[in-house]
Amino acid sequence: MTEKRYDIVFLGGGPAGYVGAIRAAQLGLTTACIEKSSTLGGTCLNIGCIPSKALLDSSERFAEARQSLKTHGILVDDVRLDLPAMMRRKEKIVAQLTKGIAFLFKKNKIDAITGEAQLQGNGQVRVVGEQTVTVAADRIVIATGSTAATLPNVPFVKDRIGSSTEALSYPAVPPRLVVIGAGAIGIELGSVWRRLGSEVTILEYMDRILPGADEEIAKHGQRVFKKQGIVFELSAQVSGARVTGDECTVAFNDKEIQADQVLVAVGRSPNTSGLNLEGAGVQTNPRGFITVDDNYQTSVPSICAVGDVIGGPLLAHKASEEAVACVEKIATGTGHVDYDTLPGVVYTDPEVAQVGKTEAALKQANIPYRKGTFSFRGIGRSLAMGKIDGLVKILAHATTDRVLGVHIIGPHAGDLITEAATAMALGASSEDMARTWHAHPTLSEAVKEAALDVNNRAIHA
Ligand code: NAI
Repeated sequence: MTEKRYDIVFLGGGPAGYVGAIRAAQLGLTTACIEKSSTLGGTCLNIGCIPSKALLDSSERFAEARQSLKTHGILVDDVRLDLPAMMRRKEKIVAQLTKGIAFLFKKNKIDAITGEAQLQGNGQVRVVGEQTVTVAADRIVIATGSTAATLPNVPFVKDRIGSSTEALSYPAVPPRLVVIGAGAIGIELGSVWRRLGSEVTILEYMDRILPGADEEIAKHGQRVFKKQGIVFELSAQVSGARVTGDECTVAFNDKEIQADQVLVAVGRSPNTSGLNLEGAGVQTNPRGFITVDDNYQTSVPSICAVGDVIGGPLLAHKASEEAVACVEKIATGTGHVDYDTLPGVVYTDPEVAQVGKTEAALKQANIPYRKGTFSFRGIGRSLAMGKIDGLVKILAHATTDRVLGVHIIGPHAGDLITEAATAMALGASSEDMARTWHAHPTLSEAVKEAALDVNNRAIHA
């Protein structure tokens, strides 16, 4: 058993751990990152954001070739699917990105250690891998992420009932796919397989889809996704699932539904098993997420935690920013994450994006607001693209006009939302957004028009 000493050691090599490690090395700290998988990048790069976006893009092109290219005057006969080739493309992208992180680690002189980390107390971490090693560090940052949550009576059954990990690699298009949960994962992966030909039914416990999204936007989304052929069963209380031969049966309310594959997408749980948190004195909340203070410090002063493992929105960019702020606080004394302007995006077609407060949250907090909306139907570029479904909604304070929330469903909403996040981070008013240049013809004109509409002066409404 060898021992090596570092200024800082990260447990987990996902968007929190690997980004934090790079920032630490930039700030002159001797750094190691312990990752149990053979590749760096965590859930996001290996079995989350990146492979799902690869499949979303590929499946969108397939659906376009089959359905909408003809509206552009492009006739394509005999469109067929080569699923193994689509999967190979996805895997190539993942490999390229994960190798990229290994390269960045070498460039920044960060030691990547492969194995499972276990806290030993006294600043020591045991790593069980091909060899067992112990590393010591002045600071330890837990960035071990999250795993798919499960439901009590819905056991995962190999090849039939599983999580997003399996749904990113089904060997064939399932004729019938049942998704449990209408959150980001359920709708994104439901969309992928719907476009590739599956009959998709999404069972959702609540009476609406996309929890956390503005209700008006979520309702609009539900209408569009329904038009694309996704069947929603809302207020569905799933009581169990079983597999008989090749067929799955899911029971909900007083009904049963049959499927070839079942995707369980009901949220995620913190990844803390095997870390020896209790032994090391690191406290968790009742849901198992590690509790931290404003400096991301746990109940043990030399141990910090960032990313999914501390809860909040389980988003890769949130994890990365927390890791950077945590390291900067350690190395320089200051670091900051502005949670009020944290954007979220669901990569469906159309995309759904948001930043700041929803209308319901403003009402609940008794904050007076004015609202401006604008439909992509009124935007020349949208018409030219053939992507007219959706709207931009801007919520601004009724007296100060400060922008409090922006919600978009529409083409490239995930890119358009950055303007809103920047504006909000700089404390902009809707007037500021309305008077900012927006090139013509671009989709961003919908943002300008919605900002104008806050004061009832949209031009093309
Ligand atoms: P989620 O929390 O977004 O949605 C889960 C849904 O399942 C909720 O609507 C919930 O009401 C429903 N649900 C819970 N129990 C149920 C039951 N027994 N029966 C039926 N429905 C039930 O979780 P999801 O979609 O699994 O995603 C996990 C995390 O990953 C989320 O925090 C999400 O934000 C993040 N993520 C973000 C993405 C993005 O930013 N594009 C993409 C994928 C995931």
